[in-house]
Amino acid sequence: MQSAIRWMWVALGCMTGLWGCSSPAPESAASGSGASARSRPEIIRINVDPIARNLALTEQLAAEFTSATGTRIEIIKGPTDATERLSQYLQYLGAHSPDIDIYQIDVIWPGVLAEHLVDLAGAFDQERAEFFEPIVRNNTVDGRLVGIPWFADAGVLYYRTDLLEKYGLSVPKTWDELGAAARTIQEGERAAGTADFWGFVFQGKAYEGLTCNALEWIASSGGGTIVDADGGVSVNNEAAARAVSRMAGWVGTIAPPGVTTYQEEEARQLFQSGRVAFMRNWPYAYALTHSQDSPVHGKVGLAALPAGPGGRASALGGWQLAVSKYSRNPEAATEFVRLLTSREAQKRRALEASLLPSRPALYDDPEIATAIPFIPQMKEIFLNATPRPSAQTGARYNEVSTEFFQAVHRVLTGEQPPDVSLAAAERALKEVLGRP
Ligand code: GLC
Repeated sequence: MQSAIRWMWVALGCMTGLWGCSSPAPESAASGSGASARSRPEIIRINVDPIARNLALTEQLAAEFTSATGTRIEIIKGPTDATERLSQYLQYLGAHSPDIDIYQIDVIWPGVLAEHLVDLAGAFDQERAEFFEPIVRNNTVDGRLVGIPWFADAGVLYYRTDLLEKYGLSVPKTWDELGAAARTIQEGERAAGTADFWGFVFQGKAYEGLTCNALEWIASSGGGTIVDADGGVSVNNEAAARAVSRMAGWVGTIAPPGVTTYQEEEARQLFQSGRVAFMRNWPYAYALTHSQDSPVHGKVGLAALPAGPGGRASALGGWQLAVSKYSRNPEAATEFVRLLTSREAQKRRALEASLLPSRPALYDDPEIATAIPFIPQMKEIFLNATPRPSAQTGARYNEVSTEFFQAVHRVLTGEQPPDVSLAAAERALKEVLGRP
């Protein structure tokens, strides 16, 4: 109880110290001896995605937390591949390891990880209404709030404004238009001397990112959402096969053959080098492609992903912060989560790293709207985004996604025709879900 009070005090000191005064809290663990300094948790370890500016921003906020509270933060870089990160987390958590206090968890993982995470409902009782309600709901498992929304994500299309203009094209509204525009620009740029120019890049490696991309192709083609809301498996149908075949046909023609090994950063780096016309990626790539030193600075536009016969589909992504049940310092960890997900921290992350806030109020923030107008525009796309079937599949989600992305990958690499691969995925998913 006493320590709860101390941490409430620290939180308060932290918030004011962080944004107003720079003096450290009096009971600095780093400096101290004495009973309270000895009982003060000294170090909190957080496992984060080191991608792009996520790491640097977390480091800045950690330094501010330390100077305000005396508690040191150690940042552990998790793998950037979400599928690998989940297996790393499951190793730590499965072993009940106290080595990590805070985990950055994907929007699809609450059901998979809930049993290992602290219920933050009480600690965030006042604040929870300030976050997007559907994400809070997503992060609530059996009445326990197991993750605080950190940033939101939705798939978007990046395009080269200068090249669309050069070839007299408009922003593609359908996948067919995207394919045609990518081909026209690629042919033109190659003829003009850039032999390794490509039309389109996406995330085609066999991992969670491919589940997001393929969900977008299939859902927008009217082929369902892998496991539909009613629990029915929806991967083996004509629309899905057509959508996946089209992408397979693009590999090596308008997309580099290596795209079947690309995650977000491989796609972003190639696009940013100036040798690609279109890219599917998440909002984080905005800050990097638009930065002053980017070779494509001033030449990049963003749009909703193209539509198909089933309309538009943008995969819903995003990350939460969760406190491990095996943490020795859950109260201090919770206060660091409070800081990282605070309005001020999220505003900074939006402005510096184009990470979408998980707090609706920030979409009306004039400073954000002026600096990055696409953020307020993203609210619509993100609120209408297509969720992966984690709610329907709960703890089995990762098995479902793995069967799915492996099946799609076999088609992209030409290992299997779509009908064979998708039929195998359907059988495997029914077995995983116990619905033969
Ligand atoms: C992004 C999304 C996340 C998704 C991942 C796949 O980080 O926010 O939800 O699982 O990409 O690579």
